[in-house]
Amino acid sequence: MRVALLAGDGIGPEIMAEARRVLDALGLDDLTYEEALVGGAAYKAKGHPLPPETLDAAKRADAILFGAVGDPDCDALERHLRPEQAILGLRKELTLFSNLRPAKVFPQLADASALKAEVASSIDLLIVRELNGDVYFGEKGMRKTADGLREGYDVMSYNEAEVRRIAHSAFKAAQVRRKKLCSVDKANVLETSQLWRDVVIEVSADYPDVELSHMYVDNAAMQLVRDPGQFDVIVTGNLFGDILSDQASMCVGSIGMLASASLDANGKGLYEPIHGSAPDIAGQGKANPLATILSAAMMLRYSLNKPEAADRIEKAVATALENGARSADLGGSMTTREMGDAVLAAL
Ligand code: IPM
Ligand code: MG
Repeated sequence: MRVALLAGDGIGPEIMAEARRVLDALGLDDLTYEEALVGGAAYKAKGHPLPPETLDAAKRADAILFGAVGDPDCDALERHLRPEQAILGLRKELTLFSNLRPAKVFPQLADASALKAEVASSIDLLIVRELNGDVYFGEKGMRKTADGLREGYDVMSYNEAEVRRIAHSAFKAAQVRRKKLCSVDKANVLETSQLWRDVVIEVSADYPDVELSHMYVDNAAMQLVRDPGQFDVIVTGNLFGDILSDQASMCVGSIGMLASASLDANGKGLYEPIHGSAPDIAGQGKANPLATILSAAMMLRYSLNKPEAADRIEKAVATALENGARSADLGGSMTTREMGDAVLAAL
């Protein structure tokens, strides 16, 4: 099986190197790896954040492990050449519409959470974020108003087929968890959300064993810090999911801990930490590689059918934390490499 490794920008190469060491240590002889440039790194070398050879490597692969994209050097480029367009392009080109972002507290890290330890320890939730639509992919641009004022616009829309397929993903995910699904929208204000809610209710007829509830996104943001233990699976659109998943990460302890899977209808996936390229600490060995290492575990479980190998990685991460491994984001001082070493030792 082929795995494409796309390290990207900023801390991407550092965290990817640790994930690769962990994968290599598992001795999985049937995996081959192909590396390719993506994001600002690809723009600088080849003039485009998602060059055709990178897209081809991703298409050829059975799974993709992704680091991070984003580079301040590229902030002034036209939007279609910015590093972020690489990840958005991969999600769209490969129809990776279902983004699974689990958030669970490692007991060893309950005191790292921004929440009180007793509140944090109740968190065990999964955000299912739609990834191919919404305001991210609507018509957008800059124009002038009749009065000559500059105006930016981004169209938010979802069609019913897009909502239906993510709703099915979310109900299925809930069926193998605690069977509770909360659909998050802004139906009190947005037509996009009203359709979202109507379609989720229609789809719920196929899943009588799952308890469905609805919540407005502002309330969901509040409930996530007030009582996160109430959530099992949350399903939401692209923009709300982006925001709520960053929030969930700090409830768990650190954004350096959250892995994610972006899946198509056949289980092919791209796996990435939910954090970004962190240019402020790039190249300093300060980044926490655990979210990427845990993303590799998700990849083995969901796309490569190697659940035992995934278990081994997840247990090794827990053991490393148990043994006191802490990078700066977790209140410690270990380097990226030392964090990788701690996981390897536990393996
Ligand atoms: C994420 C990131 C991306 C997004 C950026 C890098 C385009 O924030 O994966 O959450 O907004 O989806
Ligand atoms: Mg984000």
